Amino acid sequence: MAVTFALEGNTCVVGLQWGDEGKGKIVDYLTEHADVVVRYCGGANAGHTVRIGGEKYATHLLPVGIFRPGVINCIGNGVVIDPQVLLAEMDEFIGRGIAISPENLKISYKAHLVMPYHMQEDAAREASSEGGGIGTTRRGIGPTYADKMQRSTAIRVADLVQEDRLKQKIGEIVVERNKVLKVLYDSPPLDWRNIFEQYRDYGRRMAPFVKDVGHLLLEYARAGKRIVFEGAHAALLDIDHGTFPYVTSSSCSALGLYTGAGVPPQTVENFIGIMKAYSTRVGGGPFPTEQSNNIGDYIRERGNEYGTTTRRPRRCGWFDAMAVRYTVDLQGITAIVLTLLDVLSGLDHVQICTGYNYRGSRLDYFRADMDTLAEVEPIYETLPGWRGNITGCRNFGELPVEAQLYVKRLEQLVGAPIKLVSVGAERTATLVR
Ligand code: GDP
Ligand code: IMO
Ligand code: MG
Repeated sequence: MAVTFALEGNTCVVGLQWGDEGKGKIVDYLTEHADVVVRYCGGANAGHTVRIGGEKYATHLLPVGIFRPGVINCIGNGVVIDPQVLLAEMDEFIGRGIAISPENLKISYKAHLVMPYHMQEDAAREASSEGGGIGTTRRGIGPTYADKMQRSTAIRVADLVQEDRLKQKIGEIVVERNKVLKVLYDSPPLDWRNIFEQYRDYGRRMAPFVKDVGHLLLEYARAGKRIVFEGAHAALLDIDHGTFPYVTSSSCSALGLYTGAGVPPQTVENFIGIMKAYSTRVGGGPFPTEQSNNIGDYIRERGNEYGTTTRRPRRCGWFDAMAVRYTVDLQGITAIVLTLLDVLSGLDHVQICTGYNYRGSRLDYFRADMDTLAEVEPIYETLPGWRGNITGCRNFGELPVEAQLYVKRLEQLVGAPIKLVSVGAERTATLVR
């Protein structure tokens, strides 16, 4: 009989590295025992992949609980929504037989909207010599959060369903934005009427789904429903605690879930960190254990390390225990899921970064600081590799002994127990320790 992994209480699932750790797969796996799944940060810059019975689904805005009949899915206020992407995602899945209705999808009226000028600005800044180089997904994420903080130039889901107000806001903001983008990037002007008509139609489709998600979550929690908070991106991409400025624009560590979902801290008991058996990163920024060589290529090809959202090749490297110890501590991680262990099969040896040397001495903890990270030299420990396809293993004891050793060593180094190991992309390719 398969061993299952059920958690008492509510759970936050977060990435411990630079994203793409397999959060989608693990949220889907954990949702077997959940009633509600909530996204609380980011937008369509996220790409979460789920494989169920040979079918592959990639989500950008919908919580992955959408694939479990009976599970309620919420998009919290901390998310920035591009309605075009959301509605296209809904249409795609409905066309593939997934049920989506106001019964199982609730969208916060407080969430902010990604507008066409946000995407224009994101792309123009990336392409410019002054502002470029972060390597964003060009989904308009940074400019949308900037407008949220700016307040008067922001548009929320609540505005979508009030057509007169929407018209007035879009009219004023687009005229202003055209002037700014013309001066800064020589961008062609956008027509506010077209944008209004487009968003008015999106609003009409989205209206039945718009709810007070924070209030609903409190009611669900009081009723004893089990809630999973689906983190997007990862702690090292967090706007405050990540490797700034090479980060995304939301509070995407576990620390952001309270504001991003609208629940008090006592709501969540379990903090499950997802980490892959090596490191990857998309876009710019320091990456101490990067392997720009045949090891990196081996990992990229075996792990299919190409962006879910942009298809960009991901930068690949050895596991960085120094960095993960930081994100475990930062987020109060109570248990870890190790993913993509199967990708490392076939290497003669595997390396783990256990610490950094910086200007001649060993650092005692990770600094999420660009200048320090640009200079650090990783200290590696070398372990024996293993061979063979481990994707069929369902018990820890079935793994090659070298793979078991590797998992145990990672656990010692990062300071939290590894409770699940993922050995393949399918929902079922998961073993409980
Ligand atoms: P997320 O953004 O954290 O949800 O991760 P992504 O979905 O962007 O990237 C993870 C990729 O690895 C996806 O293609 C998953 O289907 C795949 N995946 C997840 N877990 C495993 C695993 O244990 N082994 C293998 N080989 N693939 C996995
Ligand atoms: P998931 O949820 C990997 C990275 C981008 C870029 C930086 C800023 O799938 O793990 P942005 O468009 O957010 O302004 O880009 O952040 N980034 C991600 N990298 N996985 C993600 O999400 C990411 N979300 C943002 O590549 O370097
Ligand atoms: Mg991803």
